[in-house]
Amino acid sequence: MGYQEVYEGWKSDPEGFWMQAAETIDWDRKPSKALFEKGNDLYEWFADGLTNTCWNAVDRHVEAGRGGQVAIIHDSPITGTLHKITYSELRNRVARLAGALRAKGVDKGDRVIIYMPMVPEALEAMLACSRLGAIHSVVFGGFAANELAVRIDDAKPKAIIAASCGLEPGRVVHYKPLLDGAIELATHKPDFTVIFQREQEVAKLNDGYDFDWHGFQYGVEPADCVPVEGNHPAYILYTSGTTGAPKGVIRHTGGHLVALNWSMKNIYNVDPGDTFWAASDVGWVVGHSYICYAPLIHGNTTIVFEGKPVGTPDAGTFWRVISEHNVRSFFTAPTAFRAVKRDDPKGEYVGKYDISCLRAIYLAGERADPDTIEWAQKVTGKPIYDHWWQTETGWTIAGMPAGIEALPVKIGSPSVPMPGYDVQILDEAGHPMPAGELGAIAVKLPLPPGTLPTLWNAEDRFRKSYLSHFPGYYETGDAGMIDEDGYLYIMARTDDVINVAGHRLSTGGMEEVLAAHPDVAECAVIGVTDQLKGQLPMGFVCLTTGVNRPHDEIVKECVKLVRDKIGPVAAFKLCAVVDRLPKTRSGKILRATMVKIADSEEFKLPATIDDPAILDEIKVALQELGYAKG
Ligand code: COA
Ligand code: AMP
Repeated sequence: MGYQEVYEGWKSDPEGFWMQAAETIDWDRKPSKALFEKGNDLYEWFADGLTNTCWNAVDRHVEAGRGGQVAIIHDSPITGTLHKITYSELRNRVARLAGALRAKGVDKGDRVIIYMPMVPEALEAMLACSRLGAIHSVVFGGFAANELAVRIDDAKPKAIIAASCGLEPGRVVHYKPLLDGAIELATHKPDFTVIFQREQEVAKLNDGYDFDWHGFQYGVEPADCVPVEGNHPAYILYTSGTTGAPKGVIRHTGGHLVALNWSMKNIYNVDPGDTFWAASDVGWVVGHSYICYAPLIHGNTTIVFEGKPVGTPDAGTFWRVISEHNVRSFFTAPTAFRAVKRDDPKGEYVGKYDISCLRAIYLAGERADPDTIEWAQKVTGKPIYDHWWQTETGWTIAGMPAGIEALPVKIGSPSVPMPGYDVQILDEAGHPMPAGELGAIAVKLPLPPGTLPTLWNAEDRFRKSYLSHFPGYYETGDAGMIDEDGYLYIMARTDDVINVAGHRLSTGGMEEVLAAHPDVAECAVIGVTDQLKGQLPMGFVCLTTGVNRPHDEIVKECVKLVRDKIGPVAAFKLCAVVDRLPKTRSGKILRATMVKIADSEEFKLPATIDDPAILDEIKVALQELGYAKG
């Protein structure tokens, strides 16, 4: 069957399509049907089934006689270590950890925050939670204490599992002080923490509150898998929205298992036993879906890579890992290839390794620019498949169905919608647009299994953010078009979300931080184009009347404030003091116009602009920051 047939097959019988896909999952009680309509545009999948994520990701492979297969390879060029864990070992480790968590009172439905770097223990912590039916929420290590505190207050975890440190090139990230700071800042206080002590830094533990990862597992009864309902939340993952308050995306157990398992063969074209590698971080959705869950559910070997595309030790790292571990499908972000290309434009490192094991490379997380795709294709000789998805969906909305049919690649397009997604381009009033015309990208409800059913403790926000603008549709927040062959093109975000090195960040959140500076009266943060990271945040601050301290001092404080409050991952380094911000007569800041000036793009002077002369002042400030030079 080709793609068209599979897609049409889904469209004509979605229920049958997903019930068949659900056959590949082990259920303690099979679901009576796939889709459950909750009314009011809310949907759930496989709600009355009973299953367990950890069973499907670990135990069932051991039971099927594959316990000796490597489940996780930890390849860490930062520490110079390599470590392999078989499915049998993984089961024992996870069952013990789950048993220790249970002995401390963690049960089904309890939340557990995980704050860990790229070590296998991060996956084990996730799996131990799902073994118990506890709901994990992984927080990316590059976030500051304040961001962690916000998530603690929203998720109200019973426990936090963390590592003593993370390792960035040339820098140890001291997790424990960040964790202590976050618990101090948060109103909600978890009952206890579990700290995985790394040899690079041993953290001080507080007696009776911080438990050592190994010590607290001593002598415990290993825990069996707890069957949970198909609509039981497997995890909460916070992602950036338009404000500083992150959105808690919920993933339900049943749909997550079914959709991820389906994606491994049909999209990534791997079979059980193959090695699959997603070079991302467990703190992001790619890490949840494609470092941890999908490869394990599907019985693949997954790689936990603790390194960077360049500098650990060189631009050949990717090719070394692919060759050494026999990687079949490789997934990374375009920014990583831009970094490799910058260091090795001719792809000389590729020639040093045998990468014949590799079938295809998958890119996502941000727009894949044609230059990068063409370069990667040229130096590797492999197909490069762009695919488009979001934290909210948890798996591909549009991509190349390589395991069904390798369709022609159109550079600049992430290809075609996956079964489950009826993708449409709408105008402002919600009318479908003809082929080739730009509009808001929306998905007709219901969204498929594996996608978010709602936001944690925030159903109103869920409706407002995604459902209310286009009734009957999920609003993706991206703008784009579909061509006459049904290929999708993603052009830009329609909100204040920017994408920095494949990381999703909120300019609104940064504005909230800057506005809290005592000398700042007003501010705007925009995303400007960057050759390496795709976009970079840039701040403009207007000072409170009477403040006459040196501007560079204030700029430094603003940069530090964003790093301290949001984290180094925000990469907020560009900032200028200006007298005024360009606005419409009704007082709306003209951020989009500022972006166009920064990127030296043509723009129409907004008819409603209050004082066009301010744009000249902004241009001068931009030029001082190295922008608006064209
Ligand atoms: N813990 C703590 N700090 C972290 C971190 C983590 N897990 N990840 C990144 N940071 C820090 C970095 O050390 C850097 O700090 P600095 O300002 O002190 O240098 C800052 O956050 C910005 O990091 P990043 O944007 O990653 O920039 P970089 O210059 O270190 O590296 C790339 C640039 C392109 C090599 C890197 O961004 C990369 O590998 N990108 C791939 C992204 C990816 O896989 N995204 C996942 C979505 S699919
Ligand atoms: P995240 O939730 O962090 O995965 O970010 C999702 C957003 O990243 C999407 O809404 C897009 O704006 C952007 N994005 C992800 N993948 C792609 C892609 N292949 N092409 C263009 N934009 C993408």
